[in-house]
Amino acid sequence: MPSALELLKTRTSPKAADLVPPAPSEAQLAEILTVAARVPDHGMMKPWRFIVLPRETRGPLVEKLTANFRSGNPNASDAEVDKQRLRFGGSPLIVTVVSKVSPNPKVPDIEQLLSAGAACMNLLNAAHAMGFGANWLTGWAAFDKSSKELFGLADNEQIVGFVHIGTVKGEIFQRPRPDMAQIVSRR
Ligand SMILES: Cc1cc2nc3c(=O)[nH]c(=O)nc-3n(C[C@H](O)[C@H](O)[C@H](O)COP(=O)(O)O)c2cc1C
Repeated sequence: MPSALELLKTRTSPKAADLVPPAPSEAQLAEILTVAARVPDHGMMKPWRFIVLPRETRGPLVEKLTANFRSGNPNASDAEVDKQRLRFGGSPLIVTVVSKVSPNPKVPDIEQLLSAGAACMNLLNAAHAMGFGANWLTGWAAFDKSSKELFGLADNEQIVGFVHIGTVKGEIFQRPRPDMAQIVSRR
């Protein structure tokens, strides 16, 4: 079993298209979500929630989402429409991370939003620690107003990530990592 540090140092995102079954089991998913909810959260506001989209049950949602894309982008080609369908239809499991920002004199909005980002990051790390691949995506569906109704979002909620999870097919491309000397300074 690799150390926690080794896991953090080796995590990399596979392409969502390279994620295949099996998805995490229900027990593994429960553990992954528990880790996702264990993030810094100023004021214990729980400024996030998760919408689980297993492949087996999300067909109708994917069709509605694809239809929304088509009506919002009347000039889109069939290939572009299919790309949306494939993106959401393909992955074994998608966890939608919803940020919920509520007025709080002690907790600025950005802190609540950042906490939701941390939840996304914990999802990636927990999935990796269990031997799965995961990729944090947003894209059109995260930002389009049609997603409000489709995902049942309140006015103060927004989607900050669709975290695609599954078993990795093939080799993951290793993107170059930052030159630490360029991003670390001391004063
Ligand atoms: C908030 C957020 C949204 C992202 N959305 C997309 C996206 O829509 N499409 C995409 O190709 N990559 C997107 N990415 C990048 C991938 O998640 C991934 O992090 C990157 O390709 C590889 O980095 P990694 O190997 O360190 O995980 C997004 C990243 C972040 C942080």
